[in-house]
Amino acid sequence: MVQKTQRLRAQLNRHLDGLEELDELSDERYHTTHERFESASNQREQILQWFERFIAENNSPDNRHFELLSVGCGGGVMDRKIAEVFAASNGSVELTGVDPNPEHITAFESIFSNSPHRVHTYTGSFDDFQTDRRFDVVYFLHCLYYFDQIEPALARAADCLRPGGSVVVLQAPNDDLNHLADKVWHKQFDQSAWFSDDIHQVLQSMDGETRCKRIEASVDVTACFEHECTAGTELLDFIVQADTRRFSSAFRRTILDSLRAICKPAKGGLRVAHPVDAMVYTPQH
Ligand SMILES: C[S@@+](CC[C@H](N)C(=O)[O-])C[C@H]1O[C@@H](n2cnc3c(N)ncnc32)[C@H](O)[C@@H]1O
Repeated sequence: MVQKTQRLRAQLNRHLDGLEELDELSDERYHTTHERFESASNQREQILQWFERFIAENNSPDNRHFELLSVGCGGGVMDRKIAEVFAASNGSVELTGVDPNPEHITAFESIFSNSPHRVHTYTGSFDDFQTDRRFDVVYFLHCLYYFDQIEPALARAADCLRPGGSVVVLQAPNDDLNHLADKVWHKQFDQSAWFSDDIHQVLQSMDGETRCKRIEASVDVTACFEHECTAGTELLDFIVQADTRRFSSAFRRTILDSLRAICKPAKGGLRVAHPVDAMVYTPQH
């Protein structure tokens, strides 16, 4: 099995090396395929349970008004749920969302339009985001993969905290599922994506306490193997982070073979491990 996976990886690398260039997902395609992928996974519900425990175990602000900053907020589906989890602990929530993708920010604002929470948004990279606000929690939910540099972003996040506040990072380890994306990534941007080990190393080098917990989850990829299935193509596009409709059928087959090699049959479908590491950094005061 290990040998077969290695053979498939080598085959995949050969195909990628043979391609001259590869387009990244457009903002619109990214938005659609991301939601498709997340809704096929059971990871989000586990992240929400993790946040419930995080709130119970950490000091809440005296006035129970939580100031949150979501970096790389995306379309806000998770932020809305995370805000509800904070509010359920008997608090009020003020949330700032930062994302360079205007499609995401529009969706984020719309998702909060009928909520009791106060929200602010910034369309742009976190590198350019300026604020005088101070936050109880600054969180990066599956977004640091895409940063040019992670040290300055994590240091800035720590600088934006109120006393007693924490930086939270939820980031995938570089496991089988992410190998596919990472290879395509290399091709597009000539650099690897950042994974949880990279983040953990930086947080541990900063003054303060860092904790890390692996959350095990899985994603149902059955639709990827169904012929001309829109949902399956969207899932696959997000997994490899590229528009696979533009790939030759031979290359698509190689990618699907690689994906199949890491699947396990479950509940009448095919699932792939989709773990995430939850890291909490609390500065020393
Ligand atoms: C996988 S999505 C995660 C969205 C959301 N946090 C969630 O979990 O549903 C990653 C997000 O990071 C954003 N992103 C990429 N580079 C960024 C940067 N430099 N600053 C802020 N956000 C960034 C992308 O636009 C994208 O919305």
